[in-house]
Amino acid sequence: MRRTIDWVDGAIVIIDQTALPVNYRLLRLETVGQLVDAIQRLAVRGAPALGAAGALGVALAAARSHDVRADAELIARARPTAVNLAWGVERALGQLPHGPEAVLAEALALLAEDEELNKTASAHAAEVVLAETSRRPLRLLSHCNAGHLATVGWGSALGVVWHLHERGLVEEVLVDETRPLLQGARLTAWELAQANVPYRVQPDSAAAAAMARGMVDCVLVGADRIAANGDVANKIGTYGLAIAARHHGVPFVVVAPSSTVDGKLADGAAVVIEERDARELTEYAGTPITPPDARAFNPAFDVTPAALITAVVTEHGRLKT
Ligand code: MRU
Repeated sequence: MRRTIDWVDGAIVIIDQTALPVNYRLLRLETVGQLVDAIQRLAVRGAPALGAAGALGVALAAARSHDVRADAELIARARPTAVNLAWGVERALGQLPHGPEAVLAEALALLAEDEELNKTASAHAAEVVLAETSRRPLRLLSHCNAGHLATVGWGSALGVVWHLHERGLVEEVLVDETRPLLQGARLTAWELAQANVPYRVQPDSAAAAAMARGMVDCVLVGADRIAANGDVANKIGTYGLAIAARHHGVPFVVVAPSSTVDGKLADGAAVVIEERDARELTEYAGTPITPPDARAFNPAFDVTPAALITAVVTEHGRLKT
């Protein structure tokens, strides 16, 4: 599969994640405004992919703009929760004194590293999953999309599935649809289908019932920001999954590259949680599904306390908190 995000002939090219799985199409982003819009519409999304978007965005600004630092600020603020976005921006900005070519070289180095780091993190996590479970083959539960599409390549939590599937160790992946933007039903299911991994999509609200019926050996999720004490911000619904997993004695494993760790944050309480447009809930595919004046509570992420997490795994192995 091609990279989720890349630099092609002087511009950023992304796989348009708003169009999948119906259409597979590429988007060419030639301005910082187009990039910020693509990030906010979730045409490019997922914490590691946002890190790459941040770095490439600075490269784009350095090549074309007069005020690179102001553009960098706009990009870093496009979405608040995933620490990787500002991290990617900062990393590329560090090369600005050496000129646009040095900025681009740094961004491209970040992209190349991303796939390797995710492969390594997910290989470590596969060993953790095998150590924490006894049934073979495994029935895994996935939330949101932490696959190839959420990274430059390979994936974090779904990367674990690729490693285990290669070894014939996956019976099935239960895919939370992940309301309201359906990253599970649209993107994770698409990736699993491409890779011929058996899966079923389920409503998010079925996850606890699946655990109660003994259908889940391990929950695997990615992360958007990991605090120093091991609290994890991830897609809304992750916290509820972790509570259900603890209640049913199901291991709960978080997989992410170390760029997702925010060492400046003592715990998860201070994570800024993105609140998204009410229309994501009050409309379905453009059709109103609530009374016209319905208000909405639409947080895009939640924070799972470290105490509910079996292991947080990065490219360095199991995080010690
Ligand atoms: O709103 P999204 O789709 O960007 O949210 C993505 C997630 O919550 C992922 O689980 C997380 O970024 C990890 S991706 C490897």
